[in-house]
Amino acid sequence: MLTQTVQTTPIAGQKPGTSGLRKKTAVFQEPNFLENYVQSTFDGIGGVTGKTLVLGGDGRFFNDTAIQIILRMAAANGAAKCIVGQGGLLSTPAASHLIRLKQADGGLILSASHNPGGPDADFGLKYNGPNGGPAPEAVTDAIFERTKAIKHYKICAADDVDLATIGHQTLGEMAVEIVDPVSDYAALMQTIVDFDKIGALFAGGFTMCFDAMHAVTGPYAHAILEDMLGAPKGTVINGTPSPDFGKGHPDPNPTWAKMLMNKMYAPDAPDFGAASDGDGDRNMIVGRGAYVTPSDSLALLTAHAHLAPGYRDGLAGVARSMPTSRAVDRVAESLGIGCFETPTGWKFFGNLLDAGKVTLCGEESAGTGSDHVREKDGLWAVLLWLNILAETQKSVSALMADLWAAHGRCYYARFDYEAVDSEKANAVIDGLRSKLPMLAGAMIGEQQVQMADEFSYVDPVDRSRSDGQGIRIVFEGGARAVFRLSGTGTQGATIRLYLEQLETRHDRLSEDPQKVLANVHDAVLGLSDLAAITGRTAPDVIT
Ligand code: G1P
Ligand code: ZN
Repeated sequence: MLTQTVQTTPIAGQKPGTSGLRKKTAVFQEPNFLENYVQSTFDGIGGVTGKTLVLGGDGRFFNDTAIQIILRMAAANGAAKCIVGQGGLLSTPAASHLIRLKQADGGLILSASHNPGGPDADFGLKYNGPNGGPAPEAVTDAIFERTKAIKHYKICAADDVDLATIGHQTLGEMAVEIVDPVSDYAALMQTIVDFDKIGALFAGGFTMCFDAMHAVTGPYAHAILEDMLGAPKGTVINGTPSPDFGKGHPDPNPTWAKMLMNKMYAPDAPDFGAASDGDGDRNMIVGRGAYVTPSDSLALLTAHAHLAPGYRDGLAGVARSMPTSRAVDRVAESLGIGCFETPTGWKFFGNLLDAGKVTLCGEESAGTGSDHVREKDGLWAVLLWLNILAETQKSVSALMADLWAAHGRCYYARFDYEAVDSEKANAVIDGLRSKLPMLAGAMIGEQQVQMADEFSYVDPVDRSRSDGQGIRIVFEGGARAVFRLSGTGTQGATIRLYLEQLETRHDRLSEDPQKVLANVHDAVLGLSDLAAITGRTAPDVIT
């Protein structure tokens, strides 16, 4: 096998964000771009000599080509072994599990998550460490430094690896094992939720629609829901991964999972609906005529997790990202367990999970997870919901009504202003930051500010500090607004505005969220000057 050292020039400004590096596919396809970034990753993690890596992606356009390049580079860099999902497929949670199960040194996950795929859409690459979770900031910083200094990369000349056939191969000196992407993950799920109980639920006529959105969870959902749990064929829709996700936007929210939403709000709606995103780490839950916000889903799962075998002994604690609603805080308090508030991005949960401080965690952006892996896990959340539905024999809407009656309801919405000019987006945040000192106790519209700050976080485990994690404005009476800039966009900047209003009056628990949130919305929009600065009068997406 011929190993080549190719001279190259540094790639400017390729800073991996909370979810690795995301770019337009065409950028990843530029000569040497992927190679540069992969070599920078290998260098940034201290080399891959003698290491075992897990490799797989969500099947989007360029997935298989990129895998072949990474395999040739891993071999040239002296890796001992690569474990690859058949067909180049691995959901993000399944990759996290494989890294842990096989005690690999890390893994590379090819995905731009919920962003569209295709030649004109997005691609991404993320490195996860030996705990199965996204690399901590020190590692992503080291990778970033290498992208600025890199002078050459190593690759070997070899035929393509056969990704279709399960079994063992070699690439030069390096072992390559092609594994079934689903079976180890399914076996893990059997240790967490009660497959017999859920099977009996389906056998009793319970109906469900799972929308895989033409993305990676299709094969997982077909195998687990239909083949193992006995849900009727057709329960899983859009279940074959396609390189451009059927030209869709594989983001499981009411805007993009329209097909599922229409089914769930039709007169003959199934009992339960769910969807997952491009790489299978996000989830959306919807009952018959009853959409469940991700923040509420986290609270519900926290309240009832003990009904599943994996959590029978209760939860050590829970964590949520700062913009996620405070619904879970109220449940945690009633259970007498700790509740941590972290910056946005899954990597902040990793230390808490590793240290055994939390068992469940989640984000408002449709990510929920537990200590079974070190990523959020879409299908796991769906299975835990099914276990709870099977045990309680209640409908989704009845479960939610009970939760709100017991803890109050946190009405919630997120407004996204996308592809905003970066300078203008920064001006909005800078403007708010400059107003913070004057806000405590001030009246904004009809609302009195209780507390306003810019969120920063000191990791309770490794004491690392993360500043500038979003502007939060908390009002007397249970309202809260958060402004932050997205770290995952690929075009300009995205301003996210998160709104929340707690309601505890029992006769006010079934209102229209947008109406309930109108007050706080108008108050903070005015304060932010967002419309004047950006020229945007309406958000692009509301979730
Ligand atoms: C978004 C979500 C965040 C999630 C991340 C990766 O990041 O808001 O919760 O962890 O995607 O899936 P953002 O674009 O807001 O930085
Ligand atoms: Zn994702």
